[in-house]
Amino acid sequence: DKGAYPFYMLKEVDEQPAVMRKLVQKYFDEDGKPTIDEELLKSMSEADHLYIVGAGTSYHAGLIGARIFEKLVGIPTSVHISSEFAYEQPLLSKKPFFIFLSQSGETADSREVLVNVNKNNWPSLTITNVDKSTLSREATFTELLYAGPEIAVASTKAYTAQIAVEAILAKALGEYMNKPVAGAFDVKHQLGLVANGMQSITDSKSILKDLSDKYLSKPRNAFYIGRGIDWSVSLEAALKLKEISYVQAEGFASGELKHGTIALIEKGTPVIGIITQDRTAGLTRSNLEETEARGANTLTIVSRHLAKDNDNIILPDVDELLSPLLSVVPAQLLAYYTSLGKGLDVDKPRNLAKSVTVQ
Ligand code: F6R
Repeated sequence: DKGAYPFYMLKEVDEQPAVMRKLVQKYFDEDGKPTIDEELLKSMSEADHLYIVGAGTSYHAGLIGARIFEKLVGIPTSVHISSEFAYEQPLLSKKPFFIFLSQSGETADSREVLVNVNKNNWPSLTITNVDKSTLSREATFTELLYAGPEIAVASTKAYTAQIAVEAILAKALGEYMNKPVAGAFDVKHQLGLVANGMQSITDSKSILKDLSDKYLSKPRNAFYIGRGIDWSVSLEAALKLKEISYVQAEGFASGELKHGTIALIEKGTPVIGIITQDRTAGLTRSNLEETEARGANTLTIVSRHLAKDNDNIILPDVDELLSPLLSVVPAQLLAYYTSLGKGLDVDKPRNLAKSVTVQ
């Protein structure tokens, strides 16, 4: 039931702080230790490579997870679109471990990969919102997202829950393997900060609505840009915008723009920069200026400690690895208000189904 909300999507965006708190409750014991099944940690620790597999938004959550696993655990991790992996399997390492990300647990493309993984007796984990779903039943291990039913076709709270569970798992595995970086990463405390931060962003809806009306309602195309983890978020931000508002949006590695795509910038093209990483903040800012010099309307989504006077959307500070949990929220709301402003059915965009059970 969406209660007083006009659309499920808005309700689900607003539920994200509560989902973060629920995950803390579900995944930590009284002493603050992650409660991940030892058998799972053992199996993962024996792998020489982690393969994350998913589709759409779940694939995008995998892109963030891979960065977190490599940093905290030190096992090389790659991320794959399931419909590609199923038919063009890359050369695998000797001891692979597979992580399936799927909100529904029913995505046919991802299942196709899992069937083959099982034929080879490779160990696997499904991270899903739906207990006893197909991908959950067929994988060796399951961890749940505890996000509650996600009704809107555009996935929001499942994306942030997937990233949070990946971070908790990476922390637990890193500690299990005695990695000092993981020991120093206080994911429980950070997820508390994230929940509060999400709340403050969802409390500033009127700013996001105004920005959507002013910059995104008319143009036919738009860009999100960023570097590193901000680039990964920009892919998800662009997907949200295109699927519900039908603005052709692209997420781009900001340094790549000048190698071709900047030719598309014209007067009024919206270019939104995501800036949360110390090392690359200055570079993304110069890339934004390059587009502005060619007529783009630039907007910024920036972590507080990197913010300047004329930035548009300021995010509370959290650990850099978890910044996607905050930077995606304004992007979800910008997409929502752009769709709403156009009078579209936000929850049921044309041509799309919530669960894609055909290949
Ligand atoms: C986009 C969206 C889709 C799904 C994709 C995978 O907002 O919802 O891209 O993420 O179809 O679905 P699951 O996660 O159920 O496997």
